[in-house]
Amino acid sequence: MALLDEIEPLKQSASAEFQAAADLTALDQARVNYLGSHGKFTALLKQLGSLSKEDRPAAGKVINQAKTELESLLGLRKAELEMQASLPKEPTDFTLPGRRRGIGRLHPLTQVTEDIVRSFRKIGFVVADGPEIEDEYHCFDALNTPADHPARDTQDTFYLQTAPLNLAADSPYLPSGERAGARGQVVEGDRLLLRTHTSSVQIRLMKKQPPPVRIIAPGRVYRRDNADATHNPTFQQIEGLYVDKNVTIGDLKGTVEFIFKELLGEEVKVRFRPHYFSYTEPSFEIDFSSPLVRKMGKQWLEIAGCGMVHPQVFENVGYDPEIWTGWAFGFGIERIAMIRYGINDIRLFYENDLRFLKQF
Ligand code: DAH
Repeated sequence: MALLDEIEPLKQSASAEFQAAADLTALDQARVNYLGSHGKFTALLKQLGSLSKEDRPAAGKVINQAKTELESLLGLRKAELEMQASLPKEPTDFTLPGRRRGIGRLHPLTQVTEDIVRSFRKIGFVVADGPEIEDEYHCFDALNTPADHPARDTQDTFYLQTAPLNLAADSPYLPSGERAGARGQVVEGDRLLLRTHTSSVQIRLMKKQPPPVRIIAPGRVYRRDNADATHNPTFQQIEGLYVDKNVTIGDLKGTVEFIFKELLGEEVKVRFRPHYFSYTEPSFEIDFSSPLVRKMGKQWLEIAGCGMVHPQVFENVGYDPEIWTGWAFGFGIERIAMIRYGINDIRLFYENDLRFLKQF
């Protein structure tokens, strides 16, 4: 049985060659030599036909078994060589420090906001929050803003095209997170909008807690403006509200001066100009002046609105205006960041260009 005698030596030499292959190319060559369609093992299989009918099955079985063994051997060697190929060519110094992932940083607007919050905390203010999707009641009506006020125009404000919410008075899905009944107001009629200012947080807070109040509310606001160097349809404001007995404009002015000196330096000067807001009386606009502002070629820069809380607003939230007094203000955070860092285009804050963001 010459054919059967050939199998074992052929298997031995194939396995030796597989084992000796130094790389994947050599291994593949060895595979072709033995198991390829013109390979030595394949040739052996072809010779089966020359055997007698009785001997053929036994010989075929032995050859196939050897072939299976060789194939699994080939697989093992291949995995081994692949592993070797993937290892670094140079010896590895395991004492080297690891590769660090770049740590990001806070957006300049977040940094400025955090600085403002830190300054207010020093004088006893806490941070309050409210939803960006508001209803007309909190954004306008409760702030004494009449229905025909231009800010309420669809040209100026993003109204949402959802059907009016018809939620139960105790529904947890009411936009305010408070209950309809507590508003003393019919919810069904309120259109939803993207808040145009953070002043709505004043209302939410006062409805929720009795005086005294000392809060600031930073957050995003929305207006239908075309973007240019000084306007963006999304921007950030910070609202302040102080309610107690015998609060005066002197308190307001002192607080504003303290904060701006903290933020932009001791040389800062602040001035109040009479203005009109429906939720404060009297109302002012705050201008400030500093070497940085003068560098921009201006003497004064308008920075905030403020005033003494209007008695009607106190009535709306259930505070007794005969007992309680207070002031409120709201200012734009981008403005302050622009002055602080000498940035001349508000859109830079919203482009997410790392070349810009990495500078802060
Ligand atoms: N909400 C005003 C605005 O967006 C700013 C403002 C003015 C806020 C007077 C106040 C305030 O709290 O009393 O322009």
